[in-house]
Amino acid sequence: MSAKKIRGGVIGVGRGQSFMQGAAHTGMELVAICDTWKERLNKVGKRFKVATYADYDRFLKHDMDAVVLANYCHDHAPFAVKALNAGLHVMSECIAARTMAQCAELVEAVEKTGKIYMLAENYPYMLGCQELRRVYRTGEIGDVQYAEGEYNHPAEENWRLSISPGMKHWRNWLPPTYYVTHALAPLMYITDTLPVSLNALSVPAKRIQAPNTVKIGDFGGVILCRMDNGSVFRIWGLGMSSIHRIRYEVHGDNGMASSLHGGEVRVHHEPWLRHPGQPVDRTYQPDWPEHGDLAAKAGHGGGDFWTNFHFANAIRDRKQPYLNVYRAAAMAAVSILGWRSCLENGKPFAIPDFKSKAARKPYADDNWSPFPEDAGPGQPPASLNGNLKPSAKAIAHARKVWKSIGYKGV
Ligand SMILES: NC(=O)c1ccc[n+]([C@@H]2O[C@H](COP(=O)([O-])OP(=O)(O)OC[C@H]3O[C@@H](n4cnc5c(N)ncnc54)[C@H](O)[C@@H]3O)[C@@H](O)[C@H]2O)c1
Repeated sequence: MSAKKIRGGVIGVGRGQSFMQGAAHTGMELVAICDTWKERLNKVGKRFKVATYADYDRFLKHDMDAVVLANYCHDHAPFAVKALNAGLHVMSECIAARTMAQCAELVEAVEKTGKIYMLAENYPYMLGCQELRRVYRTGEIGDVQYAEGEYNHPAEENWRLSISPGMKHWRNWLPPTYYVTHALAPLMYITDTLPVSLNALSVPAKRIQAPNTVKIGDFGGVILCRMDNGSVFRIWGLGMSSIHRIRYEVHGDNGMASSLHGGEVRVHHEPWLRHPGQPVDRTYQPDWPEHGDLAAKAGHGGGDFWTNFHFANAIRDRKQPYLNVYRAAAMAAVSILGWRSCLENGKPFAIPDFKSKAARKPYADDNWSPFPEDAGPGQPPASLNGNLKPSAKAIAHARKVWKSIGYKGV
């Protein structure tokens, strides 16, 4: 980690601060930041004592090697393509892309430029998930037959509003399948599998969950993915008000391994399948394989340290990271096609192999999207109920909250 410093910039001064704080721990140096919200930009710029830009194109001209994209969730692909074409390595927050056309374009840009691209998906690197991967790779539970990934994050309405400023903010529109990576990526990482097809069902947004909300998108949904080894993964989330829970469970043909909240790990074997001396069931708190002191201080169960770490190493080693553009695009495709499936009552969709030019070509003009920026004739809704109009009371309340945090938009 003491090798030549990699100069990095960050767009998005909310979540982006996680990278800003952790950059130095992985041999990176924060040199510039960018955000259109000028008050926040200036405040964060003063704190980190770095150059500030309100304009992304000008920011990209700053003398640096890499950028971290922590701008709006559904806007990452065009920002990534611009940065790659400007000769910069990219680490992008989730999701990688909001349309199938963007997935294909992003893959093309990485292949053309040869720059490092990494999805900044941190949940696979939580302590429990890393241990599940280690256990799985020993062969102890056999080959995965079935797995469950759950990321359900209920949100109290005023807090939700405070992190979703603006009627068009992505958090107000996001259908439940789009934020799939926290539930799916750890399972892919543990078992080294890729999704090849899916079916999905959404829970129609009921206003009883938050009667006075400006949120349009449904709160919860289930995706069934067929993986490339024939196994089935069930992916569940995103914002049902029932319980905040992060859970991974991998069922092999010789046992089961699971982790709750990315910490404690449980490994189970039926009595007749265990090896001599092996317990039927064991539950334990794993140790970090390395860098435990730095990981323990980082957010999201240490995951925020490891995404920075792997990005920096990928740049130094000139080798694409595990969460490369093909896995990133496959997960984005699960998000998008998952929502298509929900709107067609669980219809199956095949997920293209983004490594194949021929397989991704048919998607080059597929701009299907439920987001408000893409509004137009035939646009799909963000809820099974259609794009319900929030009440005047809900809008007035939301604007009061947004004003209180200094948001000047509508
Ligand atoms: N991995 C995780 O654990 C985790 C946690 C929180 C957020 N996120 C992700 O981080 C991203 C940012 O989320 P957030 O919570 O900070 O909220 P957010 O999406 O509201 O913040 C985005 C920031 O980007 C800025 N921005 C948007 N468009 C811009 C543009 N064209 N030029 C310059 N700046 C622009 C906004 O002003 C805002 O400050 C999202 O993709 C989200 O999914 C990931």
